[in-house]
Amino acid sequence: MPAIVIIGAQWGDEGKGKATDLLGSRIDYVVKFNGGNNAGHTVVVGDQKYALHLLPSGILTEGVIPVIANGVVIDIEVLFDELTALASRGVDVSKLKVSANAHVITNYHRTLDKVTERFLGKRQIGTTGRGIGPAYADKINRVGIRIQDLFDENILRQKVEGALHQKNHLLVKVYNRRAIAVEEIMEELLVFAERLRPMVADTGLELNRALDEGKNVLFEGGQATMLDVDHGTYPFVTSSNATSGGAATGSGVAPNRIDRVIGIVKAYTTRVGAGPFPTELFDESGEFLRSKGFEFGTTTGRPRRTGWYDAPIARYTARVNGVTDFVLTKLDVLSGLETIPVCVAYDVDGVRHDEVPVSQSDFHHAKPIYEEFPGWSEDISGARSFDELPKNAQDYVLAVERMSGSRISVIGVGPGRDEVVVRHDLLD
Ligand code: GDP
Ligand code: IMO
Ligand code: MG
Repeated sequence: MPAIVIIGAQWGDEGKGKATDLLGSRIDYVVKFNGGNNAGHTVVVGDQKYALHLLPSGILTEGVIPVIANGVVIDIEVLFDELTALASRGVDVSKLKVSANAHVITNYHRTLDKVTERFLGKRQIGTTGRGIGPAYADKINRVGIRIQDLFDENILRQKVEGALHQKNHLLVKVYNRRAIAVEEIMEELLVFAERLRPMVADTGLELNRALDEGKNVLFEGGQATMLDVDHGTYPFVTSSNATSGGAATGSGVAPNRIDRVIGIVKAYTTRVGAGPFPTELFDESGEFLRSKGFEFGTTTGRPRRTGWYDAPIARYTARVNGVTDFVLTKLDVLSGLETIPVCVAYDVDGVRHDEVPVSQSDFHHAKPIYEEFPGWSEDISGARSFDELPKNAQDYVLAVERMSGSRISVIGVGPGRDEVVVRHDLLD
């Protein structure tokens, strides 16, 4: 079972980092294929807690080769800050490979991200402000700067000049900001170039060779299906393909080499930033989920919006990604609720929709139709087999599984590496 993709099934923060970490010791390569340091993965190993942004979570497992593939946008300073911080805690970061074709995020991307958000006013997306959208826009616009450009100063200067010519007009004339100097960007990009050089590789070639040799390669998606630029709640999305297809384009490994797609889904729903969220709660139940689930962003610290489980979204995710297995995380957070509503369909202006509506306006108007399930009061964090879960928790999992379009193979009952109930081996 060599090539496995992990993707977020909702709006992010489902526990992808923990799921990657869980598989860590059986994996040879772990590949980040989309996004950048907008991601925030918290991984708890014993009494140690790690927050990862740009690096794939698999870096925490000894022996795993972490890869930042071509589909990622890299803020070089953040990369080195993260590497230094992990190394100082004893994590071996020496094996990291970085694609020569990955694009870079520079100061003008971060500046444009923040200023365009401000200008959007009420219509703002609530981005992480890390420059993700502008960096991907440059890539698609063919004025982006790639990692390989850092090693030819002449070419780099031409590209930076070209990009800044356009950006400075925009910054000065439209947004009333100061112009950014070519030298400032050159310095930002070149300061770490020599440290970066030995990590740079043809990662597509290396990953294909690893698969030829029967090695296990795990593709760790950042963000999530509902934040995907094509399949999410556009325009309230990120700027990359966070769905399983992105693992192929974002890494240079062909889709027919991918054997398994694991969807990570929370036992309830959260969202950071703006955009539609049909099951969102504004009452004490929402506060219960936020405080018990500790739903605050790993990257920006923003409180996450919270709501009940949305089965049409899980079904949509299963379809768009070809999910073979779900990992249902944070079931422990639901302990103590008398009843647990699950959204089974939507009411859109009086019409029932069993699937996620394709129209943005319809989805904005969608009111959840709930089915209620009896809760349980026991602390389930010690459960290690399905039988050890209270009957009502088992029934909740089975009901959600029936509605969600794929089997639930692993259940999270706590943040720790071993706080899981495994029903089916994810690599089998
Ligand atoms: P990611 O972005 O998908 O990797 O998820 P985040 O790390 O942003 O958010 C998930 C949070 O839930 C992290 O703080 C994890 O430590 C925590 N977590 C993951 N699985 C479980 C679980 O089953 N139960 C509980 N209580 N916490 C979990
Ligand atoms: P992980 O990998 C949750 C959201 C932002 C904003 C939108 C666009 O930890 O699940 P961007 O900065 O990407 O242009 O912001 O996407 N967003 C995330 N929300 N988890 C994430 O990553 C996210 N990455 C981006 O809040 O609404
Ligand atoms: Mg996160």
